Amino acid sequence: MTDAPYLITDTDRSETRERAQQMAALLHLPYLPRQGRSIAALCGTSRGVFVVEQKALAFYAPGSKTAFRYHPSSAIPRIRDASKGIADPLLVACEVQKGDRVLDATLGLGADALVLSWGIGEEGELIALEHSLPIAVVVCDGLRRYQSNRATIDAAMRRIRVFHADHRHFLRHAESSSFDIIYFDPMFVHPRYASAGIAPLRALADPRPLSGDTLALARRVARRRVVVKAEAEQVCWGKADRLIRTHSGLYYHVFEAASRS
Ligand SMILES: C[S@@+](CC[C@H](N)C(=O)[O-])C[C@H]1O[C@@H](n2cnc3c(N)ncnc32)[C@H](O)[C@@H]1O
Repeated sequence: MTDAPYLITDTDRSETRERAQQMAALLHLPYLPRQGRSIAALCGTSRGVFVVEQKALAFYAPGSKTAFRYHPSSAIPRIRDASKGIADPLLVACEVQKGDRVLDATLGLGADALVLSWGIGEEGELIALEHSLPIAVVVCDGLRRYQSNRATIDAAMRRIRVFHADHRHFLRHAESSSFDIIYFDPMFVHPRYASAGIAPLRALADPRPLSGDTLALARRVARRRVVVKAEAEQVCWGKADRLIRTHSGLYYHVFEAASRS
């Protein structure tokens, strides 16, 4: 990996130019006016380029022709089902209640964070951590600007507070029992190619598996429970208190908070 910085550019339209300049100032990254140049030419030796478009923010990794953009993925149909009373396994595993304070320690595309944010309602607080800067920036921008045409879903998106952080570092410094629920959905060591939704994210994501030490930290910081999405036989962190099957054949491993066990 190169030490050269990420860059921010626009689409040569005045509105996107202004937004790109603001974003560059906010993120302390260099702004390069587009001036008709191709993404490949702009990428040069950088770590990648953010392109502020009219409706979205795109990120191009060096050598990649495909952009990473925000999309709510499965979250909208899941929320639609849950609002009709069809149980969502994540909401069941987390046993979320209105007004809960929830930490999503692995934001990714933010689909699970959005379902959780909807579940805890406007009195709740959803903090989401993402260690990959391109993912954190693109998804944070999408959660601010995406229009789903459903006011409650847009409001749930806007309430999510995204931080670019390593959850290990965050949890080490967090107060005990300061979140009702902590949720992890780490990358798979052996990718499941069936999961097309995760494909654009894979090249940019932090691939490290969840360690037993991090789970122990999370059980200290959680007031009620820690939930980890993984294969059923993932036993390297000890036995979960409950297993709940996801729609895709994986499992939510539910661990009680340290103060409750
Ligand atoms: C499988 S994805 C999460 C998908 C997410 N649940 C969703 O609904 O879109 C895992 C994400 O966790 C991030 N991640 C991995 N390790 C991390 C860490 N130590 N701190 C913060 N984020 C991390 C990865 O970069 C990746 O974006």
